[in-house]
Amino acid sequence: MDLRQAALDVRERAYVPYSGFKVGAALRTASGTVYSGCNVENVAYPEGTCAEAGAIAAMIAGGDTEIAEVYVVADSPEPVTPCGGCRQKIAEFARSDVTVTMGTTDGLEQSATVADILPGAFANKHMDRT
Ligand code: THU
Repeated sequence: MDLRQAALDVRERAYVPYSGFKVGAALRTASGTVYSGCNVENVAYPEGTCAEAGAIAAMIAGGDTEIAEVYVVADSPEPVTPCGGCRQKIAEFARSDVTVTMGTTDGLEQSATVADILPGAFANKHMDRT
């Protein structure tokens, strides 16, 4: 399945009464399954849950844990990069060389690795005293 198309499709279902800004995310796992997510806002926390977090939650619920590729799309002048929290969430389940592609609905694309978007990531090794 085409990751961009999956992200575009799920983006249509975003629930964004506060920002009006729809985001779609899709990821392919090492096993080849594609999971997708859209942003879901709420009145108490208007920023809600990001599309990337939704795709990751779907992946975990589906029994997968290894991200091989990520695509994020929004209707913005420049490709939208994942927020800080989502960068850490992606890094939890992806190797540092995994590609994250950010796209606009107009067709602009920009790619980066997980290491590019989260340099110096906090990791288990920082808690290792042995
Ligand atoms: N948002 C995402 O879903 N992913 C991103 O990478 C950036 C921001 C959402 C959160 C909120 O619903 C809206 O975009 C505006 O911040």
